[in-house]
Amino acid sequence: SDYQTSFPQDFLWGCAIAAHQCEGAWNEGGKGVSTADIARLGGIGKVRQLDDKVDPDVRYPSHTGIDFYHRWPQDIEMLAHLGIKCLRLSIDWTRIYPTGMESKPNAEGLRYYHALIDTLLAHKIEPIITISHFEIPLVLAQSIGAWKNRAMIDYYLRYCKTLFNEFHGKVTRWLTFNEINHNENTTEAAMASAYRVSGIRYDQEYNIPQIAAQSSYYMMLATAEAVSLAHAIDPQNQVGCVLALHPSYAFDCQPETALKSLQCLENDLYIADTLCHGKFPDSKRRQLAKRGIQLDTKLEDDAKFQAGTLDFIAFNYYSSTVCMLDESQYPQGNHFKGGKNPRLPETEWGWQIDPTGLRYALNLMDRRYQLPILISENGIGMEEQLSGSELLDDAPRIAYLKAHLQALKQALTEDQVHCIGYCLWSCFDLISATTGEMRKRYGLIYVDQNDDGSGTLQRSYKKSAAWYAQVILENGELL
Ligand code: BG6
Repeated sequence: SDYQTSFPQDFLWGCAIAAHQCEGAWNEGGKGVSTADIARLGGIGKVRQLDDKVDPDVRYPSHTGIDFYHRWPQDIEMLAHLGIKCLRLSIDWTRIYPTGMESKPNAEGLRYYHALIDTLLAHKIEPIITISHFEIPLVLAQSIGAWKNRAMIDYYLRYCKTLFNEFHGKVTRWLTFNEINHNENTTEAAMASAYRVSGIRYDQEYNIPQIAAQSSYYMMLATAEAVSLAHAIDPQNQVGCVLALHPSYAFDCQPETALKSLQCLENDLYIADTLCHGKFPDSKRRQLAKRGIQLDTKLEDDAKFQAGTLDFIAFNYYSSTVCMLDESQYPQGNHFKGGKNPRLPETEWGWQIDPTGLRYALNLMDRRYQLPILISENGIGMEEQLSGSELLDDAPRIAYLKAHLQALKQALTEDQVHCIGYCLWSCFDLISATTGEMRKRYGLIYVDQNDDGSGTLQRSYKKSAAWYAQVILENGELL
């Protein structure tokens, strides 16, 4: 038929992971030190401390991850049993270019990802690669200031070129950055997440608005150039860039609140506007100028933006937020900039649960950009305990996933949005990005490890794994 009545037959049911949260083996295989490798364990309301260098007496969660680097053959085997069609994974930049500045890539790092990708393909699981997911070579960050510096674009493109050439014919879907818009979320509570995206120590900067706008500009330009490069190397390549979306609802119906909530959304969407429309918005340039921010731009940048527009939209969705006129009402230490919605339940980490927000985000992106959409992450982090040999009953996760997939189905069938896939975060319990914790568990598969690193690392399916496998088998029919 000429309209959608269900999930498309080739819908990409999948899961998502990121290298620094699962691989471990931080100093094996010729890997360099990344910006993730100096982040200590944090917790609820406790921002992860960042060190200048690795302190041998400290345990850094990324150093061991969940030991995926050594266990991936069995791990992929477990995933294959679920029938997933795609796995979104990231490549760790420091496995390919340990300092970011070498002229030749590290062969051992490339071999590792070839083996991993070949195995996925053998299981008919499509690898979708995130090129930069919350880690950057620490040397680049400390010597040139990471994305503060225009020179970063060339280092990044060198790395991209290596990946596009190496995995030519094996990988066709790429994501340039994870949550690119969070680089500009520089409230005190969120500075650490901005650091994860761009490698910039905002806590050590004084002219934060200038640096945030400038570094986002460079990352957008790098994205546009990467798109052109990917297409030149293989016309089959499809490139996207991941946004973090958390729709901002007006707390009340005061017109001023509604306006503020619109502006809040626009602060994130101008990035997608630039990347999808191939032009840095004039209004944004003038807004910045009004705030005394002059961007370093070059005439030739405009043509690059125009030539390298995205092939598809990708976004991560966990929660919505509410916008209030009085920001002192915002809960302290909240990773998301915004207030609490009294109508929504929340997780133990204060992330509010809102399936309708996913449908809202899908509609918003579909209408605004008219490009295929990939939901690159969605899932719930919760505390869980295995008891003996029993299958872990994670009913709240199943309820969360079911409600979000129902909202997705409504977006497909009632709103007719064009969505090509759903990557569940995550297949495994892994290291939390914001807190470094293990106890914030996201997996369909339990991993026996505690925050202090103790545990057997043994994997076991939770009930949600069988549930998701069934959804995939039925192609979402019974949702
Ligand atoms: C997204 C990131 O922001 O949220 C993931 O892309 C991250 O890397 C996920 O793990 C969940 O956040 P957290 O902090 O609970 O792990």
